[in-house]
Amino acid sequence: MDRPIGIFDSGIGGLTVAKAISEALPNENFIYFGDTAHLPYGDKSKESIRLYSKRISDFLVGKDCKAIVIACNTASAHAYEILKKRHPAIPIINVIDPTVKYCSKKYHDQSVGIIATKGTIKSRIYPRKIKKANETLSVPQTATPLLAPMIEEGFFNNNISQTIINSYLSAKQLKSISALILACTHYPLIKPEVENFFKNKVEVIDSATVVAEYTKTLLKKKKLLSKRKKEGKKVFCISDYTLSFEATSRLFFGEKIKLEEERIWD
Ligand code: DGL
Repeated sequence: MDRPIGIFDSGIGGLTVAKAISEALPNENFIYFGDTAHLPYGDKSKESIRLYSKRISDFLVGKDCKAIVIACNTASAHAYEILKKRHPAIPIINVIDPTVKYCSKKYHDQSVGIIATKGTIKSRIYPRKIKKANETLSVPQTATPLLAPMIEEGFFNNNISQTIINSYLSAKQLKSISALILACTHYPLIKPEVENFFKNKVEVIDSATVVAEYTKTLLKKKKLLSKRKKEGKKVFCISDYTLSFEATSRLFFGEKIKLEEERIWD
């Protein structure tokens, strides 16, 4: 089973998920697609997100992917059900359900906060799913729309990013939370700054590791794991060249990565 795993996001955010998958499943090949021509996804309509997701998933299926990981919360919120119906022959994995399962098992009678793009917050997908899984939890949420473009531009771990993060996290609905879900795959890059704001008193949950473990379990169950002994091949595609994508993907995966421009919108 040397077919690749397809992974996609609007830009660099999904690299946090791809990195966790490559650590959990080092022998798997994967194709990553960053839709840099359309980022940020967080302020687009759900119709646009569905259109982008359909086209990208068709591209990945055309490359013979054996599974697709929607490494983006906004696309998971708006397009997961549609992609499942569009590609019934392969597993489609979203980044929301494994995280919901993790925190609804761990917390009881507490408050689990959500920060995410406008699109994810407006969809109310996290409060709906978490409350369905565990009705004792309260799920306050707040949109943090500047964060994904800020991170995409390489602004993290500096004074500017910490000031913006502090301002968002001071929202009154996030007072007295026990845990905070980073419900955007760009946000693991600012996890230390978020933890710093809460003085390590709040568990800051990023979905990357949880989703990678879920992907491993699912592929094993479906007998889709690779039998390769060598390290998997990684291909990175972007819909529009950006310097920050190149810099971040090299930061995550080293100098050897191959970056391909795929103009699927032309
Ligand atoms: N990383 C994506 C998410 O998880 C999208 C961020 C954006 O492009 O706005 O929602």
